[in-house]
Amino acid sequence: MKVILLILVISFVSSALAAAEEVMLYTHRHYEADVALFAEFTKKTGIQVNVVKSGADQLMERLKQEGDRTPADLLMTADAGRLHRAKSMDLLQPVTSENLRASIPEALRDPEGYWFGFTSRARVIVYAKDRVKPSELSTYEALAGKEWRGRVLARSSSNIYNQSLLASLIAANGEAKASQWASAVRKNMARAPQGSDRDQMRAVAAGLADVAIVNTYYVGLLQNSADAKDRDVASKIGVFFPNQSDRGTHINVSGAGVVKAAKHKGNAVKLLEFLASKEAQASFPVTTYEYPVSKDVAWSDLLKSWGTFKPDSLSLARLGELNKAAVKVFNRAGWE
Ligand SMILES: [Fe+2]
Repeated sequence: MKVILLILVISFVSSALAAAEEVMLYTHRHYEADVALFAEFTKKTGIQVNVVKSGADQLMERLKQEGDRTPADLLMTADAGRLHRAKSMDLLQPVTSENLRASIPEALRDPEGYWFGFTSRARVIVYAKDRVKPSELSTYEALAGKEWRGRVLARSSSNIYNQSLLASLIAANGEAKASQWASAVRKNMARAPQGSDRDQMRAVAAGLADVAIVNTYYVGLLQNSADAKDRDVASKIGVFFPNQSDRGTHINVSGAGVVKAAKHKGNAVKLLEFLASKEAQASFPVTTYEYPVSKDVAWSDLLKSWGTFKPDSLSLARLGELNKAAVKVFNRAGWE
């Protein structure tokens, strides 16, 4: 009798364990705020979020190696160029969700549902407020002008953000013009490309150059840095949104896609839908200084302080399709 009871208890416990819902996320985002969001998701749904963090390329390589045996359900990474690469590597599967379709603008998700952007960022021109008037700035294209000789900074072309920016220039102007642009901007640089977006702003504030090309949230990170030196850098820099009188400023996303061999596809879709929900969308402008993709969510005062802008309406999937061309153009232009 006792034995039977014990067996009953064991089977009850194991079925309770089996019922514990979970989702395995591979991400290269490193924000504390993401952890808090996942906790909120677990509270709402009972679905435990397990997280593996690593570099974007490492995670994709790992997914490829693991194949069908992967424990991953969702891949989260920055830049449509990378998300498109994950799709091309056959690491993701399509998702049909009316919820995602309704909350995320069409240009910010894969047309076939392989990935979805849940935050956005603009790649802007920042300038030294004491040396450059905003009226001297206009477009990305204008940074190729001779008047900017020795005054421009940007990071390496191995960086996906620059590759996607150049892809947007190829989409807008064609490969030949984009090539001329990349060569001319490289010639205008105050030093060979090096360091991060934040390093470009530090160098502008230090007087090494007058303008730099950076993502908006890095401005926010400097403005709210624990380091007084970085807050000082931010105070010396202005944000300029290029191409407002034509196609708009180049934007990109952080996004995620359901892994092809996901064991918990339903849970992965629920997590995606949560990231696109009003609640999560409202948190990003405050915590990570990213723009919400949802039109129904207000910006934080910090985001508003940079100004409103017209974004380039190009479907971000094109950035992925043009990535190889962009890398080729950078190499030809000698932009390291
Ligand atoms: Fe970044």
